Amino acid sequence: MKILPILSSLAFAAGTSAFPAYGSLAGFGQEALNIIIPTLLIREPPPLRPGDIRGPCPGLNTLASHGYLPRNGMASPSQIVAAVQEGFNMENSLAVFVAYAAHLVDGNLLTDLMSIGGKSHLTGPDPPPPATAGGLNTHAVFEGDASMTRGDFFFGNNHDLDTTLWDQFVDFSVRFGAGNYNFTVAAELRHQRIQESIATNPSFSLVSPRYYTAFVESVFPIAFFVDGRKNDSQLDLSAASSFFLNNSFPPDFFRANGPRTAKGIDQVFEPYPILPGGNVGKINTYTVDPTSADFSNFCLLYTNFVNETIRGLYPEPTGVLRRALNTNLNYFYQGINNSGCTQIFPYGKD
Ligand code: HEM
Ligand SMILES: *[C@@H]1O[C@H](CO)[C@@H](O)[C@H](O)[C@H]1NC(C)=O
Ligand SMILES: *[C@@H]1O[C@H](CO)[C@@H](O)[C@H](O)[C@H]1NC(C)=O
Ligand SMILES: *[C@@H]1O[C@H](CO)[C@@H](O)[C@H](O)[C@H]1NC(C)=O
Ligand SMILES: *[C@@H]1O[C@H](CO)[C@@H](O)[C@H](O)[C@H]1NC(C)=O
Ligand SMILES: *[C@@H]1O[C@H](CO)[C@@H](O)[C@H](O)[C@H]1NC(C)=O
Repeated sequence: MKILPILSSLAFAAGTSAFPAYGSLAGFGQEALNIIIPTLLIREPPPLRPGDIRGPCPGLNTLASHGYLPRNGMASPSQIVAAVQEGFNMENSLAVFVAYAAHLVDGNLLTDLMSIGGKSHLTGPDPPPPATAGGLNTHAVFEGDASMTRGDFFFGNNHDLDTTLWDQFVDFSVRFGAGNYNFTVAAELRHQRIQESIATNPSFSLVSPRYYTAFVESVFPIAFFVDGRKNDSQLDLSAASSFFLNNSFPPDFFRANGPRTAKGIDQVFEPYPILPGGNVGKINTYTVDPTSADFSNFCLLYTNFVNETIRGLYPEPTGVLRRALNTNLNYFYQGINNSGCTQIFPYGKD
């Protein structure tokens, strides 16, 4: 039992190998520990407490509540990919695409961590970093307007569940779904939320990527919150309440019984088609933006996201940051490498 630690500490003391950061310290004597410990970057396990971060996504919030993601709400994109597959059976390439998109715009590319909520220096009058943690609450790069259960950024809180909007979610599910959230309800509610933003939010924006995520997120509750033992695409309100109000799986929940995508998005879009655009400084001034990607041009979503959104955030990265961007841009592209979109390299190829 003692042979392995002795051998590796000898090898280490002789300078032949660095002690691995994941290696157990069990079994080492004080002499060896005195050599090893100064070489380790000591980290405290994150405390579990009520102040843990939760954000605008009820899916990720739930995964963090149950420990599929670190409960403090800080995770790497690869942890998020694993968690959404494990906890909800999200299809792999969709999980990769969404997780790396979010990480690229909202995460720390050098520590490989992002937060599923939290304040960001880009979103308001908060103190600048490092006093704040960026996260999915950051407005206009991933998070956006006309959410089903969260208010628009313009009104001051784009991330917590809004009880008035929740009441509307329930009301629509009762009126159009006989007490279930289904594709009919999703289409009505998506239209309603867009009309509300047009009528009340002078800075309402519905351009790519939000144009896509608004519709995608309308079908996510049907894809992922319906118990896997059913396949009727009807989400009952008690299960919906558990996810949206409590960020928790309903008791005895079964995840989807196979990989799920954003299937059914056409059923949400077609009853009330709308082109990407936004209000132009005043309410009720919705104006189509022809430069935005839309459903007829999926690759433009990818191209604009990389060449405009990300390059806007990182105009001239160098050194480790440029390399980290390229690494994550490559992972991001893996999520759509079967869609026939040409990969672009705004920061070179290495
Ligand atoms: C794969 C990684 C994921 C990321 C990075 C992510 C991120 C986000 C973000 C930033 C929002 C806020 C958008 C907005 O409304 O402005 C959001 C909303 C939402 N997400 Fe996720 N999400 C992920 C996976 C999931 C999963 C697996 C589910 C379901 C199990 C889910 C369900 C939802 C729903 C239903 C909304 C809409 C909330 C609303 O409109 O009120 N998401 N997500
Ligand atoms: C949604 O539920 C309502 C009420 O049961 C039903 O009439 C409608 O067909 C359902 N829509 C879908 C797409 O399941
Ligand atoms: C699920 O769908 C299949 C056909 O797609 C059907 O044969 C089966 O009965 C359905 N199961 C449930 C529980 O509704
Ligand atoms: C809320 O979630 C917690 C776990 O996160 C769970 O213990 C509790 O039963 C849930 N409450 C309701 C009403 O779903
Ligand atoms: C990316 O943007 C640059 C500068 O605006 C432009 O020259 C280049 O053609 C764009 N690349 C793609 C693939 O759109
Ligand atoms: C796309 O990426 C996945 C994951 O890295 C990989 O397994 C697959 O071979 C790639 N497909 C193409 C066409 O490059």
